[in-house]
This record gives sequence, C-alpha cells and structure tokens, in this order.
Amino acid sequence: MNPPSRYLVTSALPYANGPLHIGHLAGAYLPADAFVRFLRLSGKDVVYIGGSDEHGAAIKIKALKEGVTPQEIVDKYHAMIKKAFEEIGISFDIYHRTTEKIHHETSQDFFRTLYKSGAFTELETEQYFDESAGQFLADRFIIGTCPRCQHPEAYGDQCENCGSTLSPTELISPKSTISGNTPVLRTTKHWYLPLEEHETWLRAYITHGMLDGKEHHYPEEWKKHVIGQCKSWLDAGLQPRAITRDLDWGVDVPPEIEGSEGKKLYVWMDAPIGYISATKEWAQQHKKDWELYWKDEETALVHFIGKDNIVFHCLIFPVILKSYGGFNLPVNVPANQFVNLEGQKVSTSKGWAVWIHEYLKSFPDKQDELRYYGFKIMPELKDSDFTWKGYQDAVNNELVNNLGNFIHRVLVLTNKYYNGVVPVIDESISINAPLELGLPTWHDSELLDLFDRLHDYRTYIKDFDFRSALKMLMEISTTGNQLLQNNEPWKQEKTDPDEVKVVMNLGLQYVTALSVAVRPFMPFTSDKIRELLALPPIKEKGEFVDLMDALSEGKHLIAAGHKIKKAQHLFTKITDEEIQLQMDALMNSKVEAAGAEEIQHLKSIATFDDFSKLDLRTGKITAAEKVEKADKLLKLTVDLGFEKRTVVSGIAGTYDPESIVGQDIVLVANLAPRKIKGVVSQGMVLLAEDKDGKLGFVSAPEGWAKGDVVR
Ligand code: 2FM
Ligand code: ZN
Repeated sequence: MNPPSRYLVTSALPYANGPLHIGHLAGAYLPADAFVRFLRLSGKDVVYIGGSDEHGAAIKIKALKEGVTPQEIVDKYHAMIKKAFEEIGISFDIYHRTTEKIHHETSQDFFRTLYKSGAFTELETEQYFDESAGQFLADRFIIGTCPRCQHPEAYGDQCENCGSTLSPTELISPKSTISGNTPVLRTTKHWYLPLEEHETWLRAYITHGMLDGKEHHYPEEWKKHVIGQCKSWLDAGLQPRAITRDLDWGVDVPPEIEGSEGKKLYVWMDAPIGYISATKEWAQQHKKDWELYWKDEETALVHFIGKDNIVFHCLIFPVILKSYGGFNLPVNVPANQFVNLEGQKVSTSKGWAVWIHEYLKSFPDKQDELRYYGFKIMPELKDSDFTWKGYQDAVNNELVNNLGNFIHRVLVLTNKYYNGVVPVIDESISINAPLELGLPTWHDSELLDLFDRLHDYRTYIKDFDFRSALKMLMEISTTGNQLLQNNEPWKQEKTDPDEVKVVMNLGLQYVTALSVAVRPFMPFTSDKIRELLALPPIKEKGEFVDLMDALSEGKHLIAAGHKIKKAQHLFTKITDEEIQLQMDALMNSKVEAAGAEEIQHLKSIATFDDFSKLDLRTGKITAAEKVEKADKLLKLTVDLGFEKRTVVSGIAGTYDPESIVGQDIVLVANLAPRKIKGVVSQGMVLLAEDKDGKLGFVSAPEGWAKGDVVR
C-alpha cells in the first residue's frame, strides 16, 4: 500500500468508571497523540477520535457500589477523564461519549443492518442468574477462579491476571459480584456473531495483510505480539460471540426486532462503533463528510489500544465492519503491552496507580515531563515499569541536563554575544565537529547531518517506534551540547569570534529544528521554545515538511538578523523530597484501598416484614460451659427475665466460659430451636465479627432490664 494521504486515528475509548492513570496514558493515548501530531506536522489530513465508553457491566457495577445511577457515574468520570486528557495535551479532534443519541442511533443501525442481512445467529443458552438480584450475570457481574491461571478474581469475560478471554460458565466457583451469592443457571436467548464463518478472510487479513486480494497493511509489518494474539485465537478455532446482554444499561436492541425486550447490545458491540458515531458528530460540527474518513480507500484507519483490546479491534470489529459493508478495515493496530508501577501491576481497585489528575495537582507545569517519561517507558513490545525514581532520573538527567541545558546555553550565549540577534556567518569557516573531536566540519554539512537524523526520526514514527524517535531527538540535543563543548565559545569568543558565530548560528538551527520535532512528544515544550525564539507557534500544519524541505535545500531554519528573547529554563529538577511524597501517597492509597476492599458485601435486600418477623430481646448469660467434642462451641444459659434459655454459641475460640458469666447480650429469641452436637439451642446470641474473625458481644446499655425488646 502507498503511504496514505488521509488518516482516521482512534484511541481506545476508556470506560467512564474511574480516573485516567499512567497505564492508560502510555498504552493508548500518548502514542496516538504523537502519531497524529506528527501526521499534522507532515501536512496529512487526519482526524483523531476519542471518547468515553459509557456502557457495559463495569459502569453498572460502579453505580451499584456507589449507590447512584449509571448516568451519574458516567457524567462524573467523563468530565474528569476529558479534563485530564486536555490538561496532559492529548489532541483529540473530538472527545465524544457513547451515551449520546447519535451513538445509540448509529449502533442500532449497525445491529439492524447486520440482523437483516442474516449476519447473526440466535441461540438459546443457559446463563448464570443471581436470584436475589433478579438479574443475569454476564461479564463483570460474575467472578470466580480463572480456569487457566487459578487467579481467584477472574471476571466472566476476561481474566485480568493472565489476559485470557473467558465465558462465565468456565469460571471455577462462580459468584455474583452484586450479592456475593452463588448463581444458578437459567435459559435466555441472545444474538451471536458467528466469528467462525469469517475465519478464512480474517486469517489472510491478519497474517498476510491481504484483504479482497489486495495488500492492505500499512506499514506492512504489524507488531509481532498483535499478530501472535490473533493467531492463537484463529488457531484455537473461532467461536460464536454473543453480542447482546440481559441488562438495563446500554444501547437497546432495536425495538422492532422480535425478542428485543430487556436486551441491550454487548458493550464490545457498541463501543468500537463509537469511533464512527464520534466521527459523524465531528463531521457535523466541522461541515465535513464523515464517510470520506471511513469509506474512502485513500484513508488509513489506525487503532491505538492496549493489549487487552486486541481481539476486539483485530477480529470482532473488522467482522462487524465487513458484514455491514463499505467500511475500511484497520491498516494497523499498533497495540501496546502493559505498564507496571514500581514492579507491580497497575490496579485501580488496589489503589496502585499514578492518576493523571493527581499528578497534575502535584506537578501542574510538568505535563511534558510525564509525557517524556511515558514515551521513554512505552511498552511497545513488552511490559514495562514506571518507577518514581526512573521518572526523576529521566527528568533530571535527560530533560534538565541534556535538552534543557543545550537550549538554555544557546539562548544565553546568543543574548550575551549578539544581544539576541542570530549572527550572520561565513559558511566557509570550519569549526570542530561535535561528534569527532579534532576533526573539522562546516555549517552546511552539519545541517545535512541533521536532515539525515530527522529522516530516521520520521521513519521511526511511521513504524510506531516512538521510543527510538524520542531517542533520536535526545541524540540531536546531545550533539548540540557536544558542539558547544568541542568549540568552547566562552573561550573562543575573544580569539575567534567568526568561528563562534558559526557555532552559535548552528546551535540556533538545532534549537529551531527541535522546536518542531519535539512537538509530537512534548507540545508544551515546543510552544515554550518557539516563544523563546520569538518564532510563531507551531500550528501542526505541515511544519515538519517545511523543515525538511529547507534542510534539504541547504536553507537556514532561523534567519540571521532575527532577534530572539531572553533565555529561560525549560525544565527544573525533581527533588528527592518530591519523589518521597509521591511514594508515600502511593503507599497510602494502597492501604486505603485495602481497607475498602475488605468491607464485606451486603446481603441482598430484606423487606421490613422480613425484619419484623425476628424477636430480639435483651438478656444476661448466667452460666457457660464447653460443649463436648466441639472446640468452638459453648453451651450458655441465658436469662431473659421471663424465662431461661439454653443456647449454643460458636464463641469458644474467643471466650473462656468463666469470663462471660454476667455478660449482657441480645438474643434472637424466636429462632426455631436447633440441635447442635446433641444440645437443643433455643435462640442465637448476636455477635459482631471484625475482618480478622474476632468476635464481640452486642448488648444493650448497662443496667437494661432483661427481656426488653430490641428493634
Ligand atoms: O478496555 C476498555 O477500557 C474499553 N473501554 C475499550 C473500548 S475501545 C473501543 F472499542 F471503544
Ligand atoms: Zn487467568
């Protein structure tokens, strides 16, 4: 395929059920942002789509946990996520929502069209049902032990520990996440996408980059781990995939379809269609034709995602698009692997994350510092690790000492020697080469060398190798520092002022080139450098092409005679104290989350009538003894004032019999008598139990009469 002239680029739509963290950012947003900014700098027509994924079980569960509606949850987190993206400089052309009307309509149109064309099969199957909640349990409504890795908290659709895609009936010891109860099986009818019918073309598409007999991938090489994951699905044999759910939150199955009542689209059916509905909305706002970006063969579709989304973007969504007909399929899906944090998996529920909004509170002017480190540790081919120490080292050693130092020195010396005016030079004068000490070099040959490096930088970005592209930029900056080091203008200015002019002019050309080339990675820094150079801000409208054209024609990037501004530092060092604060905050959030995790599930709702059936009475223990052959049980005599009861209680592990005689208690007095270890127990003593299993008596205030009602 020829280099495309038009691009539709997407980043995975994050679930609007929690704030954005570094794992998200480095996985699916930073690379896409760098890519689209670079495309714009290259003069390409590109639309970058983002938005919140606002349906699905994850949202509903969060709402149940917080006791609010799903709409309240998505409103809250959509606003929060959108703001974090803006503040960290992710340059979406639109940040949409899947709860918008246009999205529901677009998704229903897809369902309807595929339904009518016979692309679905209908199946009646047995699915888990929570009787106390009155609800079927799909996806995240059910947890259990993963049959592949034995992780005890795998979801019904996926194990986040080993990454396997699962179905609820595969889970060992399944439990409802709503009530904690063991679910039962009930039959229900759903629509399925028969993926197995698409295997032949999918295989050609994924593994050979061929679609409809034509070469399709761009660039040709997809990441190995992406192809590997798809191949293992294909090799295992594709299965029909349910694309509807029994839920009350999501996009309705179109009402005219028989059996649609109570059914919603599976979130993974509607979410990727969200890319299309967002494009429609963007096109309406900008008076453009959305179809050009989805259907024209000159347009390249590229999805940036994390590795847990590969199957959905490489197999399922392409099947949906192709079944509908007329849509482009992705030319590449450059998925990233995962970012760990301080050696452990990032986990929202365990409080183990670097939240973007929190980071920005601590470091309000250091957006690019986080971006830089995010690119540096980008998990392009394997999982990587974010460490606060690594962040500090990257900022202090690379941004402050290398890039910031080079630019600052050039600006300071230009102001000092030439009052801020770019010096006129004699190009025939040689200077010391930056790379090989002792060898001469010339202004124009160094600019050609710069061209070569920027050419490589461009190739890296085209190949989604963002780490290498960034490294190339830092090498240019290192070369700039060596240029100064090898020529020592601060010594030579008195003896060889004409040579120093060449050195300083060259340094200024480097700084100008960097103001453009750092833009995809560090847009805020790009703006600052342009400001210091007194050059117009980068609008991302073909400036990289202009830069390369100028260099290849031997033209200067910043003209002699142009006056720059006073120098300022671009970056400042991160102190050990700042890092310690972040580590402390991380540990605290882990401890807090652990506390929250241990709160037990509430039982399912009891009506007032249920409760009022119980007769609770105050009483006093008047005698206690061990029950034979039972370590945990004590036989108690409880005085209720109007009568005495014998009660067996499982408290021998906590209390000696002698120590509890005289203890005030509350008794469930109308519980049906039960025989326990040969003793008939006539009631139950109320006990509180903490998370470590420690027991304590529940009692009325001291001196309370025996036999009083508790209600
Ligand atoms: O994994 C996730 O966070 C999903 N919300 C990604 C959806 S991507 C797209 F298909 F919308
Ligand atoms: Zn697993």
